[in-house]
Amino acid sequence: MHVQFSTESLAALDCDLLAIAVGTDVDADLAALEAHFDGQLASWAHGRKFTGAPGSTLVIPTFGKLRATELLLVGIGDGGTDAIRDAAGRAGRMARTNRALHVAIALGQTAEDTAAIVEMVPVGNYNYERYKPETDLSPALERITLVGHSETSTLRTAAERGTTRAAAQKWSRDLVNHPAADIYPQSLADEAAKLAKLDDVTIDVWDEKRLVAEDCVGIMAVGQGSDRQPRLIHLSYDPPGAKAHIALVGKGVTFDSGGLSLKPSAGMQTMRCDMGGAATVLGIARAAAELRLPVRIDTFVGAAENMISGNSYKLGDVLRYRNGVTVEIHNTDAEGRLVLADCLISASQIEGVTHILDFATLTGACVVAIGPDFTGMFTDDDELASKLSAAAAADGEGLWRLPLHPRYKEMLKAEWGQIKNVGGRDAGASTAALFLQHFVDGPKWAHLDIAGSAFQDKAVGPYVTGGTGQMVRTVTTWLESL
Ligand code: BES
Ligand code: MN
Ligand code: ZN
Repeated sequence: MHVQFSTESLAALDCDLLAIAVGTDVDADLAALEAHFDGQLASWAHGRKFTGAPGSTLVIPTFGKLRATELLLVGIGDGGTDAIRDAAGRAGRMARTNRALHVAIALGQTAEDTAAIVEMVPVGNYNYERYKPETDLSPALERITLVGHSETSTLRTAAERGTTRAAAQKWSRDLVNHPAADIYPQSLADEAAKLAKLDDVTIDVWDEKRLVAEDCVGIMAVGQGSDRQPRLIHLSYDPPGAKAHIALVGKGVTFDSGGLSLKPSAGMQTMRCDMGGAATVLGIARAAAELRLPVRIDTFVGAAENMISGNSYKLGDVLRYRNGVTVEIHNTDAEGRLVLADCLISASQIEGVTHILDFATLTGACVVAIGPDFTGMFTDDDELASKLSAAAAADGEGLWRLPLHPRYKEMLKAEWGQIKNVGGRDAGASTAALFLQHFVDGPKWAHLDIAGSAFQDKAVGPYVTGGTGQMVRTVTTWLESL
């Protein structure tokens, strides 16, 4: 995406779509353009019931009255960064549906707004079209002109940062949207390996033999029912002079059939999304490496396909993990935590890591509790919680803390092993987090349940159906603050 700045008059901007912010005083905000529309612009907008409220939009063909082909009015209500971010997402979406290649945006004035706009226009513009017929293809946006600014080094830096972060988020969404026929453990590792061409990024992929040798019993158990062998992907970004060292862990279940505790067909339909955690952590690592952040990052992805066959893992099996914890299987559909456990043990063993963040489409219970707009956050560390919350607020992503309380630990008590892989019906997202806690030893830790936020079943806000790449920008912002 090419970003440029212009101080030309609105009428003179040469673009496909000119998006302008309109607040509650519609007449005032359109006054500057009235001369080009014989004074009929505001009354046309009123006639179409356009109010300038947040979420309202109106596209008007210009028929040569402006150089732009179409004019887009985007409501921002009383304004503010959230409204501008939202408006930018809508403008991006309208640009896609109207086949615009070049959009000019007159939405905000500050460098902060610039960054938000540059990130949110591509989020709204996103569409996954790999398998669409030719007739349904729509071109992605190529160019954004930010109107009302002359280029300064501050704005250029903000634009470049935003472009990089947006590209990482898009890459993460594509990984999620690729069907499970295309993304399986080895091909996920191959995609991750492409990041190793970035400076200071290296990758180490453990195949099934290595996984057995290293005692990764969770990844092996979950993956053993599939013809596609599991992998552990360890991607490192180690820049010289790093000021901090953290680890990221992602659930990479490339398809979740539920295993022998088979999901019903409807529940399985979108389970390509179950490697959303992997896509998130790889997207974060990509953003950090491209932005050259001075933070060392060790990323672990447990990649497996949860399938049924004569070799599937079974209910009643007991897994003995490397750290001594034994886990009794009560439901093969609670597989994500089993895969994450191996990764959390590995991440805990790395010398110098101060924080581990794990990301997983872990529980339907989290979706029931907080819906598709929020990521659930579980941590004992108040400072980490508040920093992640602040980053999410700054980037306009939904993040909400949920209980990680020892009171519920007894729900995991097992008959044969130390713990079961499921609690009861109650507090399902919390008992999953408490399960994971058994495998973290040392660093501060937060578990992020993205079961709702990683994948949208229908278009919501700036997101089309499918992968969202949420938390890539939030966590990058947190890394930038370290
Ligand atoms: N991958 C699912 C969770 C999920 C559900 C993600 C909906 C995205 C949307 C996970 O592996 C799972 O199946 N969890 C079970 C756990 C239960 C068996 C304790 C669930 O939530 O039903
Ligand atoms: Mn499952
Ligand atoms: Zn799953």
